[in-house]
Amino acid sequence: MRDRRYDILFERVALGPVSARNRFYQVPHCNGLGYRDPSALAAMRGVKAEGGWAVVCTEQAEIHYSSDITPFIELRLWDDRDIPALARMADAVHEHGALAGIELAYNGMNGPNHYGREVPMGPAALPVATFSHEPLQARRMDKADIANLRRWHLAAVRRARTAGFDVIYVYAAHSLSFLSHFLSRRFNDRTDEYGGSIENRVRLLREVTEDARNAVGASCAVPIRISIDDLTNEGGLNRAEVEDMIGSMADLPDLWDVTLAGWENDSRTSRFAEEGHEEEFVRGIKRLTRKPVVGVGRYTSVDRMVSLVRGGVLDLIGAARPSIADPFLPRKIEEGRIEDIRECIGCNICVAGDFTQSPLRCTQNPTMAEEWRRGWHPERVKPKGSDGAVLVVGGGPAGLEAAQVLGKRGYPVTLAEARRELGGRVLDESRLPGLAAWIRVRDYRRGQLERLPNVQVFLDNRLNAEDVLGLGMPKIVIATGSRWRRDGVGRYHTRPIAIDREACVLTPDDLMAGLLPDGGRVVVWDDDHYYMGGVLAELCAARGYDTRYITPASEASTWTRATLEQHFIQARLLRKGVQIHAFRAVTEVQRGAVVTACVFTGASETLAADAVVLVTARLPEDRLAHELERQRSAWAGAGIESLAVIGDALAPATIAHATYAGRRYAEECDAAGAAAGADAVPFRREITELSDLPKPPLSEHSGGLSSG
Ligand SMILES: Cc1cc2nc3c(=O)[nH]c(=O)nc-3n(C[C@H](O)[C@H](O)[C@H](O)COP(=O)(O)O)c2cc1C
Ligand code: SF4
Repeated sequence: MRDRRYDILFERVALGPVSARNRFYQVPHCNGLGYRDPSALAAMRGVKAEGGWAVVCTEQAEIHYSSDITPFIELRLWDDRDIPALARMADAVHEHGALAGIELAYNGMNGPNHYGREVPMGPAALPVATFSHEPLQARRMDKADIANLRRWHLAAVRRARTAGFDVIYVYAAHSLSFLSHFLSRRFNDRTDEYGGSIENRVRLLREVTEDARNAVGASCAVPIRISIDDLTNEGGLNRAEVEDMIGSMADLPDLWDVTLAGWENDSRTSRFAEEGHEEEFVRGIKRLTRKPVVGVGRYTSVDRMVSLVRGGVLDLIGAARPSIADPFLPRKIEEGRIEDIRECIGCNICVAGDFTQSPLRCTQNPTMAEEWRRGWHPERVKPKGSDGAVLVVGGGPAGLEAAQVLGKRGYPVTLAEARRELGGRVLDESRLPGLAAWIRVRDYRRGQLERLPNVQVFLDNRLNAEDVLGLGMPKIVIATGSRWRRDGVGRYHTRPIAIDREACVLTPDDLMAGLLPDGGRVVVWDDDHYYMGGVLAELCAARGYDTRYITPASEASTWTRATLEQHFIQARLLRKGVQIHAFRAVTEVQRGAVVTACVFTGASETLAADAVVLVTARLPEDRLAHELERQRSAWAGAGIESLAVIGDALAPATIAHATYAGRRYAEECDAAGAAAGADAVPFRREITELSDLPKPPLSEHSGGLSSG
């Protein structure tokens, strides 16, 4: 039974002509599936609808071939042939009683058009603002272009309606849409009726919204998505201007979807923003309109959601990441199962899926994007497929996930953890600056295990091979994690570097265990490039060390571009006084100094350093697995049928890889032919249908080049 205090979250909300069954609203989010994997996409969105979201939206859907954002894999609605793929998603959402929303996008000055090779266009002739610095400019749109664009948008609205969508967005947020470019003085320097005053800059948004409203009539809702503040001093939109804009067309859309600045500010990680970080920007918007308002802020606290609605800040609780981490969040609240909510940790590995053009992955929810291709479900598991107990060795993210899923499948499970607390690496890493929310990886799984009578957890139990053989469990899964290397081997050096025995050399494990560097001058050598090097430099600087951060890359924590954090990390390090040495490699550690080399010229420089922190690569903690392998002849006698090594103990990677590995083991340990290494592709995939359209005629030419 749900808590009566939460009833307000389950009230219906009218969105113009349609009605949301409750206040839980999955805002648009991309996923690396898009036009390439439409069935996987439909299944993923269908699961969210099943999980209780009232509205389930697509990601950006490109409305016209003249603006594509290749290599990002989004949806396309270029012509009628794209309708069936989108209809599949709308149907999957409707099947579970939710409204299907679509975000129509024309990226304009943000679309490099790598695929279609049309010349990008926008309000002004400016460089195309993509996530790279590509030498490519957009052309200034004239009146004919504006008329064309309105027509294309309208055609997309009609197609979206034909595909079955109930909520058809006008997208004007994140500086990613032609409409946001027209709204902002930063991109709009026009002197015609579409530039200059606010009234003029909002004109196109008003026209496009009116076009859409008139086209859909009483069949669909038309929301506007807009950023409240661009958070830039470069002439972007600010709150005062946006208030005027919203005020000037207050009741035109059926819903205001308000968000913040560009994507990196909107989807800030927990390291750089608390839950609800957008609230201060969104507060007061409801005063400007009679239409409902949806906003976001990585909301997982139910009391907070209630206070947002009661306090008149929002009508609908928007969520991208909380809905990825737990597609069943609304249902769990409705059923009074708050403790079962898998809270987003705010790591943005989901965003990295988009940047790597690969199916969305989530640290907390390893079933994400595997609903169709592997048949996984975030809440349902198939019953166990064999008899016999399972021994899981290691209570980090991989072991915990394996144990809880195996337990839910009905297997008798024994989980042995060497330490006195569960969590493995997340226990340590969540104590680092800014990473506290990561402990949710442990907490959710520990909570699930506590309610499974068939799972026994033994803490402070470091098992050796004899112990394992003595336990006589048929299935053994080793998830013993990894340890950081202290020999300098990583990406840059694939062989150990020269390290003086007298030098103070620390690894991330040492710092996480509470060891402190000697002296006052610390060098952090980051050849890992994700968060660890930057976090430890921040930690050292906060403890008062004179900290230098050395990287062979061009910037600190360069892979965190994929999690939208790099800019924030570098800014924080600089503000804390960390000296960043880019394009340099540590080549030797001496007592009291490190030798570094320029990665281009090799020119060396010696820096005084009392201690060096090596953030390079990790070694699998796989001794137990090797010991057991050596005693394979004793397995039959001990009743052991299989041994698997998973997660960091097999090959160190992200926490998302670890939870995925745990899930995969638990799902597939008894499935024939599913194991890694099988000859057949172990998942479903969608193959592009070969076209039987006739070949285009080749251009006429007169034969070879004439020489004169
Ligand atoms: C993986 C991912 C993809 C996103 N893609 C889009 C998108 O296609 N269109 C859009 O308007 N916003 C997109 N967003 C932004 C979200 O809609 C949302 O505004 C933001 O993540 C803040 O909400 P949250 O804290 O609930 O995640 C995306 C966010 C994420 C995490
Ligand atoms: S990947 Fe991280 S940020 Fe994204 S939804 Fe999952 S837990 Fe949240």
